[in-house]
Amino acid sequence: MSSNIDSVLKEKRRFEPPAEFIKQARMGPEQAAELRAGAAKDPQAYWADLARRELSWAKEFTEVLDSSAAPHYRWFRDGQLNVSANCLDRHVETQPDKTALVAINDDGTTRRLSYRDLHAKVATFANVLKRLKIAKGDRVVIYMPMIAEAIIAMQACARIGAIHSVVFGGFSARSLYDRIVDAKAKVVVTANFSIRGGKSIPLKAVVDEALGLGETPITDVVVYRRSDAEAPFDAARDRWWHELEEQAAGDAPCPAEPMDAEDTLFILYTSGSTGKPKGIQHSTAGFLLGTVAGMRNVFDIKDDDVFWCTADVGWVTGHTFICYGPLAIGATQVIFEGVPTHPGPSRFWEIIAEHKVSIFYTAPTAIRSLIKLGKELPAQHDLSSLRLLGTVGEPINPEAWMWYHEQVGQARCPIVDTWWQTETGSPMIAPMPSSVAAKPGSCTLPLPGIDAAIIDEQGEEVPQGQGGILALRQPWPSMLRTLWGDDDRFVKTYFPEDIAGGRYYITGDSAMKDEDGYVWIMGRIDDVLNVSGHRLGTMEIESALVAHPDVAEAAVVARPDELTGEAVVAFVVLQGDRPAGGEARDARTDELRKWVGKEIGSLAKPAEIRYGDNLPKTRSGKIMRRLLRTIARGEQITQDTSTLENPAILEQLADGG
Ligand code: WT7
Repeated sequence: MSSNIDSVLKEKRRFEPPAEFIKQARMGPEQAAELRAGAAKDPQAYWADLARRELSWAKEFTEVLDSSAAPHYRWFRDGQLNVSANCLDRHVETQPDKTALVAINDDGTTRRLSYRDLHAKVATFANVLKRLKIAKGDRVVIYMPMIAEAIIAMQACARIGAIHSVVFGGFSARSLYDRIVDAKAKVVVTANFSIRGGKSIPLKAVVDEALGLGETPITDVVVYRRSDAEAPFDAARDRWWHELEEQAAGDAPCPAEPMDAEDTLFILYTSGSTGKPKGIQHSTAGFLLGTVAGMRNVFDIKDDDVFWCTADVGWVTGHTFICYGPLAIGATQVIFEGVPTHPGPSRFWEIIAEHKVSIFYTAPTAIRSLIKLGKELPAQHDLSSLRLLGTVGEPINPEAWMWYHEQVGQARCPIVDTWWQTETGSPMIAPMPSSVAAKPGSCTLPLPGIDAAIIDEQGEEVPQGQGGILALRQPWPSMLRTLWGDDDRFVKTYFPEDIAGGRYYITGDSAMKDEDGYVWIMGRIDDVLNVSGHRLGTMEIESALVAHPDVAEAAVVARPDELTGEAVVAFVVLQGDRPAGGEARDARTDELRKWVGKEIGSLAKPAEIRYGDNLPKTRSGKIMRRLLRTIARGEQITQDTSTLENPAILEQLADGG
């Protein structure tokens, strides 16, 4: 962590908003300054004004914020609206023929859906859900490829007030099962296959496996036919999407149910440092408002923009900036099923050029792979349509930032580095592009209405230039409302008594502010890894390893990785002897990596496994992760090891285990 502070403090480059950008921006610097000043003076008035201007209410709210049950904050409580009506119905009235989705398949075939088309499909699928006896408040698990139908299913849930829980298509049967059971979902929506990079991934087979792992409340599985290849089909439980659609075709168009502002819009599971994944629960109006604030303040979105967020709908970024934000403000967006390497390494640049993408939003890990695929490739394509670039998921390293700026943005496009979390629902710290200069590696300043501070345990702000705990001291509309089924854990995790007496939202990140008040994220304060911009709990991976019959004990730490940001390193004690080395060890490692892939998902597979006769522990039996981290980084151990029960083990592990 300290080396990270040193390196960020050395970064002195500063990039003012390009004049060319300011000239055409929707929100100019004066307007941005005004907004910021107004929000600082009266945050509630700022949010209320935005909510009235940007959202269509079925019933106007009179109360802005109710803090009486803090830390359970409630926003716009007596108001009513429907998210799907905000995303679709109101645009069908004003711009029915505008393209909402440019949905690009892996093989390049492209479907354009206008707002009218999308509205019709969502209304039909909402009727399909109703026919499957899904009612307001019921949970629907969505396990889909990155195709329009994923958005249609999510929007259809929102339309009738069902709560969706999207599970990333890369998660394993076990992870899917756990989420279905925890959410007590009644229906799973999936596709027979997902197609990426020319390969078919059998999604439906994973659903079958998940549902075979134990009892679940699932009554029906809706299967979208993405491929003509055969997948197993259980006529008693499985239904084809297209057949259900045909059956519902004659139904009266499904109206958008007015929902209370505080009704739950969705659950999205994310990793924590301990225990099982947390079901982050988001509200209806507050979440929607956060997506709109992000589209306007950070992405400066205009009517003629073509927006492309490369995230998957399985992550919060895909909820906020694919399914909801762009549609809420009536934009045109690209969604892409495939991967950047197929059919060639220029796929992203080809898409930007062909579809005249003007705002491009991706993750640092993707940027680093794009550099690897060919530093010089962007210059071979016409990227003149771009006007704004963004990143999310982890701090971006300055080399990657410079390449993104020069090669992709051709030094004309601001880069918005957006800091946020599944829990925050929308960006909290990010530049407003016409008014905040960028510094490579910093997410810059808190957005209007957001009170982000770097504090110590007592809740006092630490001096400038010093690292501390990143906290949000005021509630905001798109904050999580609780953890699904575990309110106690919600309070303990995010408003812990031992930091500032439980008054503030604790992000779990450490950070510092520089002399201009710019925020530099340093890392996590808990045992959470960030692999390719996604959070993984060390505990989760350890539990998965220990679940293997041959594993006695396991500890997982992170080491920096050039491509993925952080990589998983596992230290494993087997039931029997350590593998003899060479082939035996490789075979064991291969087996355990596959095992973790099956238990959690490929993302969680350890990059490296080291074997020991035991693990370094204190005399009280606590695993010394600090030391394991040093070993995983290949660094010399300089820490005090005198409190260790078994110091000799360090050598064995450092030797390669
Ligand atoms: C964690 C949240 C928000 C969608 C993606 C990940 C890290 C996120 C940044 C950024 C530095 C960042 C933080 C945060 N993070 N964005 N711009 N700069 N770090 O969502 O899985 O909920 O992870 O990602 O550590 O706490 P998530």
